[in-house]
Amino acid sequence: MQKTAVVTGGGYGIGRAIAEHLLAQDMNVVITGRRAEILDRTAAELGPRVRALGFDASDPDAVQHAVTLLPERIDVLVNNAGGATEYDFAMPPRDQLKELREAWLRNIEANLMTTVLMTAALEHRIPAGGRIIVIGSIGARGFKASTYGYGPAKAALEPWAGDLARELGSRKITVNVVCPGFTLSNDRAREFLDSGAAAPMIDASATGRVTEVADVAGTVAYLATPAASQITGQVIHVNGGIYP
Ligand SMILES: NC(=O)c1ccc[n+]([C@@H]2O[C@H](COP(=O)([O-])OP(=O)(O)OC[C@H]3O[C@@H](n4cnc5c(N)ncnc54)[C@H](OP(=O)(O)O)[C@@H]3O)[C@@H](O)[C@H]2O)c1
Repeated sequence: MQKTAVVTGGGYGIGRAIAEHLLAQDMNVVITGRRAEILDRTAAELGPRVRALGFDASDPDAVQHAVTLLPERIDVLVNNAGGATEYDFAMPPRDQLKELREAWLRNIEANLMTTVLMTAALEHRIPAGGRIIVIGSIGARGFKASTYGYGPAKAALEPWAGDLARELGSRKITVNVVCPGFTLSNDRAREFLDSGAAAPMIDASATGRVTEVADVAGTVAYLATPAASQITGQVIHVNGGIYP
């Protein structure tokens, strides 16, 4: 039977690369995200085995509605949606507590709640041999990513995934977190690299380069194979050997 994957945030960046890798494993793939026009374009480019579904994965009502439109059987759920919501590595304004709180909550909603809600809503549709794969971040270990709560939101995914792995193990479902280092996923990342700001990360790596989307997507794709059935409850770093 042909397998089906759902990739949140699959319209572009790392998520699109993951969708492409799962397609290469002959799966049907549903890509999700908030912007329907981007999703539709990507789905058209990737071909007839890709379906697009636009909704906000941090909104419980939107997720509840999306569930009615998603496949009855989901072999691989990739919780990739997220990213740093504030685009700013400056220290947060500690004298503006309301703004500070809102910025932290935005990061928690985008990175933690998207994964928690999607998994809760779809977990019962995942059969034995299924996979839940979560995209964490090197930011969970610091690297100035704690400002505004992005790193802490990603860090919270790790114990959550570990507990879920133990809970779902008896159903032969694996749960893992893949943590990219700085990844060339979009125009903003390329600008960051071109500005020289990524130099410390490149210097800190063993490989002497930043992470490419294919590095992350290839790891996710491997976790989706039957060969990875004994890998569960793990946090897998894809960052060229940077250890904070
Ligand atoms: N690039 C890096 O250096 C890096 C490093 C470590 C970890 N990561 C993680 O890798 C994942 C992908 O990152 P990326 O660099 O590819 O980011 P990106 O280019 O900004 O893509 C993020 C994707 O998530 C979707 N998304 C965001 N919030 C959403 C929501 N509330 N509901 C549904 N979809 C949502 C976006 O689509 P819409 O905007 O249309 O909703 C987009 O497709 C993220 O979780 C990010 O934190 C990235």
